[in-house]
Amino acid sequence: MTDPVYVTDALIAEDIDAYLAQHQQKSLLRFITCGSVDDGKSTLIGRLLYDSKMIFEDQLAALEADSKRVGTQGQEIDFALLVDGLAAEREQGITIDVAYRFFTTEKRKFIVADTPGHEQYTRNMVTGASTADLAVILIDARKGVLTQTRRHSFLAHLLGIRHIVLAVNKMDLVGYDKAVFDRITLAYRAFASEIGITNFTAIPISGFKGDNITALSDNTPWFKGPALIEHLENVEIGAAADEAKPFRLPVQWVNRPNLDFRGFSGQLASGKVRPGDAVRILPSGKTTTVDRIVTLDGDLDEAVAGQSVTLTLADEVDCSRGDVIAAADAPPEAADQFEATLVWMADEAMIAGRAYWLKLATQSVSATIQQPKYEINVNTLDHLAAKTLDLNGIGVVELSTDKPITFEAYGDNRTLGGFILIDKLTNATVAAGMLHFSLRRAQNVHWQATDIDRDMRANLKNQRPALLWFTGLSGSGKSTIANLVEKKLHRMNRHSFLLDGDNVRHGLNRDLGFTEADRIENIRRVGEVAKLMSDAGLIVITAFISPFRAEREMVRGMLPEGEFIEVFIDTPLAEAERRDVKGLYKKARAGQLKNFTGIDSPYEAPENPEIRIDTTAMTPEEAADLIIDRLLG
Ligand code: ADX
Repeated sequence: MTDPVYVTDALIAEDIDAYLAQHQQKSLLRFITCGSVDDGKSTLIGRLLYDSKMIFEDQLAALEADSKRVGTQGQEIDFALLVDGLAAEREQGITIDVAYRFFTTEKRKFIVADTPGHEQYTRNMVTGASTADLAVILIDARKGVLTQTRRHSFLAHLLGIRHIVLAVNKMDLVGYDKAVFDRITLAYRAFASEIGITNFTAIPISGFKGDNITALSDNTPWFKGPALIEHLENVEIGAAADEAKPFRLPVQWVNRPNLDFRGFSGQLASGKVRPGDAVRILPSGKTTTVDRIVTLDGDLDEAVAGQSVTLTLADEVDCSRGDVIAAADAPPEAADQFEATLVWMADEAMIAGRAYWLKLATQSVSATIQQPKYEINVNTLDHLAAKTLDLNGIGVVELSTDKPITFEAYGDNRTLGGFILIDKLTNATVAAGMLHFSLRRAQNVHWQATDIDRDMRANLKNQRPALLWFTGLSGSGKSTIANLVEKKLHRMNRHSFLLDGDNVRHGLNRDLGFTEADRIENIRRVGEVAKLMSDAGLIVITAFISPFRAEREMVRGMLPEGEFIEVFIDTPLAEAERRDVKGLYKKARAGQLKNFTGIDSPYEAPENPEIRIDTTAMTPEEAADLIIDRLLG
């Protein structure tokens, strides 16, 4: 154990450059502490900060503002007050996110993610753990291995944390008894091996008294080390292991300041690269060699995992943001269907069938998730049947993307195997995920190129395909107007096809009802059929309530730009209900019909429809003429 950092504090005053240089060369360990306040987590973090005499300045300022009780950096800080301050801050910030605290010793810099311990904060722990190299699992020596110990360990392992420290805390309260420590270590070992943790370091500590934190304690002569900070300083971290893997660089942007220079910038996710190395661009599979490795400080002979560089390539190959440059002889796979573990992080439950944005490294695609294969009970690790995942739910799912993505299993590469899902309408991050493998069916089903394409089919019919997508409340007039539009098109010798909700629900979609999930599947299938029909060269008209913006946008995305024409049949609920052509509103109001749109199921009106029809201001005939004008005009 080296002395804490205030040795260098003098250096800050004397020679700031030397201080910064020294600081820069130190490696960085990111770790997470798992446990609850009862286990002594705040005390432990306070102890680490206190013993290393370095408190992140923001935090110090906050503490100072809070009470004028604490001193400034380098001065003596009262340990108990520091811990109080941390605990208070933790409580205030508890629902917001993860508190990151920074400290340093002479050997290494540390960022500790302090996440709340309760099950309702699983997502916070996942956030903190996703970038951590090490997890300190805190146990109260008086209580031993608890349900939450298991949950934290499972999550740490799930998120690929390779180093686990079992910190058996409050040893002072059990008389520094070796037997207690041994019993807990043994119990933990049995559980850990069950979930695949093969290696961990157990340390008996007292955060409160400071035993075995910076140095071995006389109170535990039977413990041969290492002390906690010593272990944190010396544990071998990510970089070395990542360098040994094959080279991968997810391209963040294409750097083209002038016509003579074309570089591909990004951070090496793994491996090493040197000028002259043969590389493959994914997903295209094109090969070339690396010409130069450019950085702000000049060219490099070699770049390694974790470094941000710009590569220039020997040939003019296609390569853009989202592509991955990889070792030519050991490329990662590209696929569009996967099995993955998902941790749901949004208040609104997961919706099977809905399209979310999926971001993985620098790639961004649209992805739909199937109903979970199972949900994992994080406390018992049992597999449960589930239709969805709620906030903090963890499950194994299958998902498919609209374009192939270049990936690796999360266990092999956190950068190319970890992803987040984003709600397309609210832009909120709703889930974190870990890819397991691609589904074989994706590898073996390829697009078959056919000789007659959609343009040729449309040309023969002398028309341009289009999809007139009607949306509106039940009884708004969709079917009536759509039917008139088709009749008029037919008279004009246009080839068309009308897909109507009530009709399709008798055949193709007769297995579907009116739950949110069923309506989404209804629209997905109709979208796919409409797309095939437009590929056939037809003018397709659909008349479905299609109450959700997300699915209408999904269908829009399936067609070539400009072919999807959203027609909003805008009839106010009161008016549709007054007309009540099928008597369904009456039934719904009487409680005889559940999930009725506009009554107890939502309708999300289009924000920017291509065509809006106000049925209170024009007749169906006029509406149909207007639509045809806009379509052909
Ligand atoms: S959608 O929401 O999935 O797009 P779709 O257009 O296929 O609905 O079907 C709507 C038609 O089903 C309505 O016009 C109505 O005749 C009938 N229907 C039966 N139950 C419901 C319900 N709970 N909500 C809405 N429409 C219903």
